[in-house]
Amino acid sequence: MLTLAVTATLTALAGGTAGVVQPPAAPAGAPAAAPFVIAHRGASGYAPENTLAAVDRAHRLAVDWVENDVQRTKDGELVIVHDDSLARTTNVEQVFPKRAPWKVKDFTAAEIRRLDAGSWFGPAYAGARVPTLKQYLQRVDHNQQKLLMEVKNPALYPGIEKDILRVLRTQGWLDAAHVRSRLVVQSFDAASLRSVHQQHTGLVTGFLGTPKVADLPKYAAYTDQINPQHTTLSKQYVAAVHKLKGAHGQRLRVSTWTVDDSASAKKVKGFGVDGVISNRPDVVRAAMRG
Ligand code: G3P
Ligand code: CA
Repeated sequence: MLTLAVTATLTALAGGTAGVVQPPAAPAGAPAAAPFVIAHRGASGYAPENTLAAVDRAHRLAVDWVENDVQRTKDGELVIVHDDSLARTTNVEQVFPKRAPWKVKDFTAAEIRRLDAGSWFGPAYAGARVPTLKQYLQRVDHNQQKLLMEVKNPALYPGIEKDILRVLRTQGWLDAAHVRSRLVVQSFDAASLRSVHQQHTGLVTGFLGTPKVADLPKYAAYTDQINPQHTTLSKQYVAAVHKLKGAHGQRLRVSTWTVDDSASAKKVKGFGVDGVISNRPDVVRAAMRG
């Protein structure tokens, strides 16, 4: 009894929910063999990436899962943007012409709120903003969608994992329902991912990359998914991943990126992947169902 009580206490302290966590399942209504589809940076083929408009566009396409990229401002706000510079996806060069190279980490949240993150994509999106993580989580929840969240460039933001977990908690994303089936945290940075797992052992995590098969068991100690670029994949590699169990005792899964055309979608489906991350999730979904 004492051992059980100590284990339960340690799990609670770690923020864990051992025993209830499952990797995401295919959405209801999808054929059993079809991999689930994740809208990359939102439905970013159709709306400006990492904006709320891209989340909503995925929702209108009936895509349950959206992927995003989390970084941190100079004053500690978590924001959704892919590049470490704001230059490509906002009008920061016009608004702050003397602040090259316009790094996210050098701007305050109030400054970033002034930026237009939509006009670069098209006039219909003029005025779209760089969302905060809080705003983003609220919109995904409102749409009853699910989130594949990337910790982007964590080496630039020491301690960002703890900040992310704090926002997830305050926004209600660490309750059992979200943790069990609506949230996956991924990163290219193994140390960052390990830190997320250690700080909240219940969370489903994914490593971005294609580790050597011999190294996969090391990753499986703290991840549930291995998420490689699709051009690096083979049927044999997917089978090697599937032979292992991930951090929560389930089969280690594979979600691959960024697949935008029908031929590639059919190819990775043939490899046996579990998930496909796409800028054009409707195209990929149709190809894989066909
Ligand atoms: O989700 C996979 C993908 O987002 C990783 O690459 O550069 O688009 O963040 P990137
Ligand atoms: Ca990403």
